[in-house]
Amino acid sequence: MDVGIGLIGCGVMGRVLAKLVSNRDPRLAVVALYDPDPRSVEATRATFDDVPRVHRSHQALAQDPEVDWVMIASWNCFHAEQAIAALDAGKHVFCQKPLATRLEDALALGEAWQRSDRHFVIGFTLRFAEHYRRIHERIRSGAIGRLVSFEQNETLEFNHGGYIMGDWRRLRHQAGTFLLEKCCHDLDLAHWMTGSRPRRVASFGGLDVFTPQNESLIEKIGRDENGRDAYRTWPGLVGENPFTADKDILDNQVALLEFESGARATFHTNCNAGIPERRMLLNGTEGAIRADLVAGTIELRRIGFGTENERLDDTSPDLHGGGDLVLAEELAACMLGHGVPAVGFAEGLASTVSCLALDQAQDEGRVVDLAPIWQRVEGALEGGGVDRS
Ligand SMILES: NC(=O)c1ccc[n+]([C@@H]2O[C@H](COP(=O)([O-])OP(=O)(O)OC[C@H]3O[C@@H](n4cnc5c(N)ncnc54)[C@H](O)[C@@H]3O)[C@@H](O)[C@H]2O)c1
Repeated sequence: MDVGIGLIGCGVMGRVLAKLVSNRDPRLAVVALYDPDPRSVEATRATFDDVPRVHRSHQALAQDPEVDWVMIASWNCFHAEQAIAALDAGKHVFCQKPLATRLEDALALGEAWQRSDRHFVIGFTLRFAEHYRRIHERIRSGAIGRLVSFEQNETLEFNHGGYIMGDWRRLRHQAGTFLLEKCCHDLDLAHWMTGSRPRRVASFGGLDVFTPQNESLIEKIGRDENGRDAYRTWPGLVGENPFTADKDILDNQVALLEFESGARATFHTNCNAGIPERRMLLNGTEGAIRADLVAGTIELRRIGFGTENERLDDTSPDLHGGGDLVLAEELAACMLGHGVPAVGFAEGLASTVSCLALDQAQDEGRVVDLAPIWQRVEGALEGGGVDRS
């Protein structure tokens, strides 16, 4: 074993990605775990042939001399604190999205990374999906000219929505808002596709479905072929009834964004969708791209007489467009000293800033101007660690 991996947060995502990464090469091994929930620890220990040791705190794991890389997949509110402890202990860090749930925490993490000489990689899985790489490559090569306006959405199948509304993600102090927790990927994609970042944002949203008044939907829809209730079939730790009154996140939201590049966009999300989609309709000065990750379709048409749709479809068979596998491959290569994955602290911070600004626009019912916020975080965006360019 050349590279020891310590995993903090041993739930579904932590376990899956740590396994995918360590499977890439025999020189990579998961040697240590920390999770306060014994069910997650046991399930993760059972995943590996060489059973990793279990620490009693994230700090103890960070200090473990056999750990070179710390992978963090705990609740979002713990990401920054745990990443800071790992960087300060001299470890490289892979951290799941979002970077943090509060701007102060994200900036403190930036300071820790800047004073380190370590890698920091963030889990923006969709950046690694062939679907989005094809779209980005076409935009960058000028196939649709200058991007003028676009629509983006993420609508979730009802069981996926029920899962989120029934587990730790339903509370802002643990997960951040729904937009930050789930759609920070989409904001990151918008930054990437525009090569820019939002200048002004507005947002309208609400909690209209996952309330006690609508609990009868469970009975109305009925059970699946395995006898499981509607809204309760998504794999993972068993959560609460998704129709409880205690949650403080939204289940549908429509946002407006104007980018520094001049491009304008709408973003729409809904957690109880009859037709799940992760769709983009991008209009440029010379053409358009219409794409849906869930359906695996990408169409491009140049503006002109008699032009036809060019198909660039990628039918990767999962909701991340195969991005987990590619992320694991590129992360494993980085751990072994070959290259640096495409997304790190700067992308994580930019997405966090945009999501928090949209949350502020939503909470305060006004258009938020991001110029002062970008100015505030400019130093942090410049980079740090070993990935400083
Ligand atoms: N990149 C992606 O596409 C993607 C997909 C799903 C989840 N995620 C992210 O992965 C992380 C985990 O999500 P999940 O779906 O695996 O959730 P999960 O509920 O399956 O796992 C979360 C785990 O964190 C543990 N935990 C809670 N408090 C902790 C603490 N203080 N220290 C360490 N562990 C703690 C829980 O006990 C649980 O085992 C989240 O940050 C989520 O946003 C990313």
